[in-house]
Amino acid sequence: MRHTVHEMPIPHQRGFWEKTFFDGKIMFNMSWEDPEMDRRALKIQPDRHTVISITSAGCNPLNFLCQDARKLYCVDGNYAQNALLEIKLAAIETLDYQTFFDIFSAQNPGVVSRVYRPHLRPNMSPASQRFWDRNLWQLARNIYDYGWMGLFCRILRRFMDARGLPAWRREEFFEIRTLEEQRAYYHEHVADRLWGPWTRRFIECKPLMFMAGVHDQQFKLVDDRHGMYDYVKERVEYALTQVPIYDNYFLSAAITGKMRGKRVPPYLLEENFETLRRNLDRVTVVTGWLAPFLDTLPAGEIDRFNLLDIFDWMDKDAFEGTWRSVLRAGAADAVMIYRSGSYALEPPAEAREQLIHDPELSRELLAIDRSTTYGSFYVFNRRPADAANRPAAAGNPQTVAGS
Ligand SMILES: C[S@@+](CC[C@H](N)C(=O)[O-])C[C@H]1O[C@@H](n2cnc3c(N)ncnc32)[C@H](O)[C@@H]1O
Repeated sequence: MRHTVHEMPIPHQRGFWEKTFFDGKIMFNMSWEDPEMDRRALKIQPDRHTVISITSAGCNPLNFLCQDARKLYCVDGNYAQNALLEIKLAAIETLDYQTFFDIFSAQNPGVVSRVYRPHLRPNMSPASQRFWDRNLWQLARNIYDYGWMGLFCRILRRFMDARGLPAWRREEFFEIRTLEEQRAYYHEHVADRLWGPWTRRFIECKPLMFMAGVHDQQFKLVDDRHGMYDYVKERVEYALTQVPIYDNYFLSAAITGKMRGKRVPPYLLEENFETLRRNLDRVTVVTGWLAPFLDTLPAGEIDRFNLLDIFDWMDKDAFEGTWRSVLRAGAADAVMIYRSGSYALEPPAEAREQLIHDPELSRELLAIDRSTTYGSFYVFNRRPADAANRPAAAGNPQTVAGS
């Protein structure tokens, strides 16, 4: 095994919904953040920048590895998400490109059963071995149909069938090449059937939204501020009429159950496979919460932060504490990016003073977002002067496996 694995104690008690949906089971079967936004925002310098990313399904951390990040920390409080990343890393280390692609594009996933024991299992940590010994069937059948998000998408497709949007219509929509045709098709064949009182009931059904990856805190944040139905309608309508659908692999996986040919995330493209394999020993997979892990690192260690929408999950103390940890571990010219379900979620005042926002780039990149999920996207650069006065590191996590 060429990657390293760390495990941190998971301090806080999880609520019922968080335990049910976000602990020990795969919630996110793919990273639901558009990597093109991350690439253009973070501008990772090959072989120079140390990057930290929340793991989720591991897709975006691997996209950063395609960009030759010097060191890559992948952190997640849910070990099942790290198990999904680890089996991808083991596959890159031991399989040929076509077999790797067949499994993780789910275009011929059954092959995983043949390679699991001889190749993949020996190159993962004990925790991930235990996870996949019980759950390999999810990968063998089609990972985009499993995990809570996969189950949600299967229910969504049945709902769309019932709303008069059958599979052949959905397939047809993803082959449209121009925005004009796309808009015309949407308004003629989709809009009236997709929206209305039944869809409002569907979207306002909390357990269904939890299954879709919306954390309890996040549901409250969005619903209180924007009304969940109006928010989802605005975001989905924007993506279906303003963002080219042809290469939107996010919606293709959700709405048709599969990725289409080579319309896949960058880490699944053949041209990136040798780079991924060359860079495997740059990866550290950490099971634990971000802030306590950052506090174990030397001050200034991290050049680039990919924070997804973790702040939507947090109460005030965790929000402020995590920003303190980010700024302590951040390099003098660090760049941080995050998303929010809300149309606005500024950093806490104390942190804001030490940051320079790039509103043009943030808006420009949100406008191309294929994931349909977020109301806001933030690109922050660290304000240089503050680099000096930072407290020293606190303790080191227990190394479980690898270098
Ligand atoms: C924030 S969630 C949402 C991801 C995104 N919306 C998606 O659809 O891909 C992504 C992951 O972050 C993890 N997570 C949330 N807060 C975290 C924290 N403070 N530290 C480490 N992992 C965290 C969750 O376990 C989950 O796997």
